[in-house]
Amino acid sequence: MPGKSIFIVIEGLDGSGKTTASQHLAELLESHFPGKTLRTYEPHDPSCGGDYIRKVLRKEITAFQPRTLALAFAANRLDHGDRIVTPWLAGDSGRIVLCDRYYLSSLVYQQTSDFPMENVLELNQLARKPDVIFFLNVSNEVCYERMKGRNLPPELFEENLSETRRKYQEAIEFLRKGHQENIVEIDGNGTVEQTATAMFRVIMSMPE
Ligand code: TYD
Repeated sequence: MPGKSIFIVIEGLDGSGKTTASQHLAELLESHFPGKTLRTYEPHDPSCGGDYIRKVLRKEITAFQPRTLALAFAANRLDHGDRIVTPWLAGDSGRIVLCDRYYLSSLVYQQTSDFPMENVLELNQLARKPDVIFFLNVSNEVCYERMKGRNLPPELFEENLSETRRKYQEAIEFLRKGHQENIVEIDGNGTVEQTATAMFRVIMSMPE
């Protein structure tokens, strides 16, 4: 476990269990390093444009250009970074931020045929680079089951999991090869404890 502060992102398909896994991981971290971990998420409702983004996701706003949404996510991310993530990490040594989704999600969901992921990444070039991005690898069947359990109407991007999975694979390759991002795939089909423990082990083995 590094003595420096670290910024950790958890990514995965809708229904992959990111929220529960990050809760368990936060508990594990808390038991080893009390008071050091902050859990947060994107889209971050209280940050810039959060209300607009949620309305688009709930399909309450339907007249929008994909690029406007991409800009909204990028602005939401920068504001979230400036007012929440960076101050926490800078406040003491050995602090941790666990963030549910980050710019990998934007590369996946905001790319279109005439606005490819290179362009989406450019909008996010000022965003802080995570020390590690975990991608929870979970089968489509398990994701659909977990989404059904929530009993909520499907949001904008929740329908086509196979297509989204393909885009995640492409975006992960793109970030690893072209931008030297540290992306670790974690099997998320098992219990939430197994998933959280696998992430915890990776964090503990990170260099000082
Ligand atoms: P979220 O609230 O994390 O939902 P869940 O807990 O189900 O994953 O995210 C809602 C949606 O926001 C999700 O379908 C993906 C989308 N999203 C983007 O399109 N771009 C982004 O940059 C982010 C962070 C999320």
